[in-house]
Order: sequence, then structure tokens, then C-alpha cells
Amino acid sequence: MTEAVVGSRILALGHYQPTRVLTNDDLAQMVDTNDQWIRDRVGIVTRRIADSETVADMATAAAGKALAGSGLGAADIDLVVVATCSSVDRSPNVACRVAAKLGINTPAAYDINTACSGFSYALATADHAIRAGSGRNAIVIGAEKLSDFTDWTDRSTCILFGDGAGAAVVTAVAEGEQPGIGPVLWGSVPERSDAVRIEGWRPYIQQEGQQVFRWATTALAPLALEAIKKAGMEPADIKALVCHQANARIIEGIAKRLNLPNAIVVKDVVESGNTSAASVPLALSKLVERHEVPSGAPVLLFGFGGGLTYAGQVVRCP
Ligand code: UT7
Repeated sequence: MTEAVVGSRILALGHYQPTRVLTNDDLAQMVDTNDQWIRDRVGIVTRRIADSETVADMATAAAGKALAGSGLGAADIDLVVVATCSSVDRSPNVACRVAAKLGINTPAAYDINTACSGFSYALATADHAIRAGSGRNAIVIGAEKLSDFTDWTDRSTCILFGDGAGAAVVTAVAEGEQPGIGPVLWGSVPERSDAVRIEGWRPYIQQEGQQVFRWATTALAPLALEAIKKAGMEPADIKALVCHQANARIIEGIAKRLNLPNAIVVKDVVESGNTSAASVPLALSKLVERHEVPSGAPVLLFGFGGGLTYAGQVVRCP
């Protein structure tokens, strides 16, 4: 008889950031901006910019680290899911490239694009697949090379973005054990989906910054609270808040409204900029690497962005 799978949990995390650091002063040499404006309005101090690395290279590096830390081997992985909105190639998808590079044979391999909320969407689909019995072990990745889609002459956007990847190895949880990935709260605002765009054949990122800022700081906290409730928890149970890393002021605004009395509020945006779908797993992996939260601690993930999509869930730290 096969054991009953009741959910899934994160076994290990990994991340990758390119070595090249782009400072606010560097940007001030390129466009009419300055360090103070960027720090005050967005909270970013540095961001990493890829050189020859592709989205698949960065995804592979992060996934390789997560796999190495998981105790599993390539042969154990049934599913590879990559959240990205900045892969240049249409096919093969990034997931297949990662699987090939890591020697993972015959996995289900797919990419999803919900822009900055992508990691929580990807994590939810992996959790659902494992619960349904479609696989036992998954690698879930958020990876972006936004520098390929950045207009380096536009000061309103080029100061915001960075490149990088984060990954999680996810495994089935059997009856009697505690699931480590809570139910997802997800959705979108299709009628306002043009607020963040990467459109056309030679696209650059464009956005209605103030509109997105207002939405993020007013609409998202109640939704994030719903994700906590869906996990059967209270705000006081949450030990860390890992939001999409778009703007330190947005993160502070969401944290204030949510009022999580025992949570570290993660602001990796300061050193990494906005890496879209990579930002949540990147920040989570770095948080765990710094041993700031104990194993098993509940952490609220909440992504939001392009399409005005959003998704979040409570996960337990590996
Ligand atoms: O990840 C996808 C989801 N996206 C987001 O979550 C982004 C949400 N929005 C934001 O984070 C903020 O709206 C931004 C950081 C994008 C912009 O900050 P803001 O406080 O909304 O600035 P603003 O666009 O209203 O611009 C204020 C002023 C303008 O000048 P005037 O018209 O007041 O004279 C801009 O031209 O600041 C000017 N400005 C700059 N000045 C120096 C815009 N960009 C810059 C810059 N340096 N880089």
C-alpha cells in the first residue's frame, strides 16, 4: 500500500547572485539620479547585474545548491518548476534547461509567468502536484535577468531592478507529519494588469509606479492576513515576513498594516534590488543561511506585481 501524502514541505533552499555590484553612484553616472533619492524612495543601495549568465544559468546555480543541501539526488526529482518573466528564449523552457544541467532525467518540467508573484504561484503548483500524487520531490525556482529588459536611459525604472535566482527543494509529507507549505492565497486584478508591463518584441519594463505603490500598500495586507488564516495561524505565530522585494517603503507599509508582533521583516531589496520572481526565494534563502529563523519556524511569503497578480502562503523553514 502506498503511504498517504498529506502535503509537502521545503527541505532545503539555495540562491545565486551575479558578482557584479551596481551602486546608486554608478547609476548616477548613467542617468539623472542620485543615491539619496533612491535610498529615500525605494530603499535600494545596491543590486547585482548578470554578465554572460542566462536565466537558466542562474536558476541552475540556485537549484544546484538547494539540491546539494537537501540530501536528495538528481534521480529523486520528479518535477522542476521555474517562475520567470525574463527568459529570452521561448523554448526550450528554463525548467528543461535546469533539469538537463543538473542531470535530472524525465522530470515534469515547466515555467510559469506571473511576474513578481511567480515563486508563490510555482510553490503552490508544486505542492498541489505532490498532494495529487503526480510526483514526490520537486525543485521550485524563481529566476530573473531583468537587466535584459531594463531601459538603462530611463531613471524611473533602471534604478529598481536586479538579477538573481532562488530555489527550494520540496518533498512530500506523509500522514502523521506536519505539512510545511500552507494553502496558497492567490489572485490578480486583470482590469489593471497594464500597471506593470514588459510588452512587444523588444520590450522594456514599464510601470505606473504610483498606482502600483498605492495598491501594494493598501490592498495586500488583508490578503496576506487571509493566507495566514488559511494556514490555521494567527499573526503572532509568524516569525518572518518575506514579501516581494520591490521597495522598502512598500514592505514597511505591508508589515505595519499586517502587524506581525514576532516577525523579522526581511528587506533584501536594500542590497539586491527588485529581482521579480527571484526576490522571494532569494530573500528567504539568505534569511535561512544567516540562521535568523529556526528550522520549522512559520514564515509568510507574499509576492505581487505584473498583471497585478499576487500569491502568498505560510511555509515552515527547512
Ligand atoms: O515589482 C513590480 C511591482 N512594482 C512595484 O511594486 C513598484 C511600486 N512603485 C514604487 O515603488 C514607486 O512608485 C517608485 C519607486 C517606482 C517611484 O517612486 P515615487 O515616490 O512613486 O516617485 P514618482 O514616480 O512619483 O516620481 C517623483 C519624482 C518625479 O519628479 P517630479 O515630477 O515630481 O518633478 C520623477 O521624475 O521623482 C522623479 N524621479 C527621480 N528622481 C531622481 C523618478 N525617478 C527618479 C530617479 N532619480 N531615479
